[in-house]
Amino acid sequence: MKRQLFVGTIAMVCLAGAAQAQITGSPHDFSSNAWSGGEICKPCHTPHFANFAAGRLWNHALSDATYTMFEGDLEGSDHLDQDSVLCMGCHDGTVALDSFGGTTGQNFINSGKMVGTDLRDDHPIGADAVYPTSPSTRFNPQDANHRVPGPWGSLSLRSWIDPSDNTEKWAVSCRTCHNVHNAGNHNAMLYFSNQASHVCLTCHIK
Ligand code: HEC
Ligand code: HEC
Ligand code: HEC
Ligand code: HEC
Repeated sequence: MKRQLFVGTIAMVCLAGAAQAQITGSPHDFSSNAWSGGEICKPCHTPHFANFAAGRLWNHALSDATYTMFEGDLEGSDHLDQDSVLCMGCHDGTVALDSFGGTTGQNFINSGKMVGTDLRDDHPIGADAVYPTSPSTRFNPQDANHRVPGPWGSLSLRSWIDPSDNTEKWAVSCRTCHNVHNAGNHNAMLYFSNQASHVCLTCHIK
């Protein structure tokens, strides 16, 4: 009986924790910044008049920067995957945070959280990080749903269409490792805790 009570208490604590594992109060909650108009979703999404070409009911201005890719070549955003393009609209530092809904803003991301346009010092994404579809001695195999079963949990490799050859590929995206809405409430808004490098070991056999 006591034991059941104990389990119940843990469940309640977990539920209370889950309620906070959200975008509210996270680094992506800009509602306390005057420029957001007090809204959370609006700097990124809009229910109407969205940029449908960008997908995701996107409301934020996109970057037209040229990137130095991991392998050193200069490429446009078509060498990133579709969702990383959305991140870079704030994180490459060339477009103001408050450039959304058709207005041009003036507040830029702090340098510490800026990825920049030189991606040689960042984990490869997009065209530079296509996950092998055939068995490899270097990477854990993906299952039929393109999930990689790692030591911590199962990581989903999200789909990406390479516009250069129109072939579906499975590439690492910013959102492969990060959850933009902070679900899970892990350090650096990661999908999983990276304790003991479990995010890295999900893919890499090391
Ligand atoms: C900082 C930008 C940002 C903010 C703020 C934001 N989102 Fe998103 N959202 C994204 C990006 C980028 C994607 C696509 C990538 C992904 O899903 O990881 C996305 C995808 C989505 C999706 C489709 C995928 C899914 O998770 O179901 C929904 C629905 C969504 N957002 C709803 C919301 C709502 C509702 C809010 C406000 C409470 C919000 N978002 C706030 C950036 C944002
Ligand atoms: C509307 C602009 C905007 C978009 C779009 C956006 N971010 Fe951010 N992001 C920010 C800002 C601003 C910060 C830094 C907030 C601060 O200084 O506390 C941030 C912080 C972060 C952090 C650091 C979290 C931490 O704990 O310090 C990560 C990781 C991140 N973003 C990932 C992403 C990813 C991945 C995407 C796309 C899926 C994305 N962001 C899209 C504006 C954006
Ligand atoms: C392979 C996984 C992976 C990918 C892909 C990835 N990140 Fe990260 N990112 C991490 C990890 C892990 C950390 C935490 C690093 C730490 O705490 O030292 C991090 C930290 C960050 C931070 C916080 C930096 C700081 O010092 O506060 C930002 C911002 C960020 N990432 C944005 C991005 C953006 C934007 C992309 C896509 C261009 C991206 N990340 C792609 C794994 C990744
Ligand atoms: C979703 C799967 C995935 C995750 C998670 C992941 N990686 Fe990678 N990583 C890749 C792919 C794909 C490449 C590029 C292709 C290759 O190296 O063959 C790569 C490349 C690298 C490289 C560059 C190798 C070179 O060419 O110099 C390093 C180092 C690396 N990853 C470390 C990490 C670390 C550290 C983490 C955890 C923060 C991590 N990776 C998480 C898939 C992943």
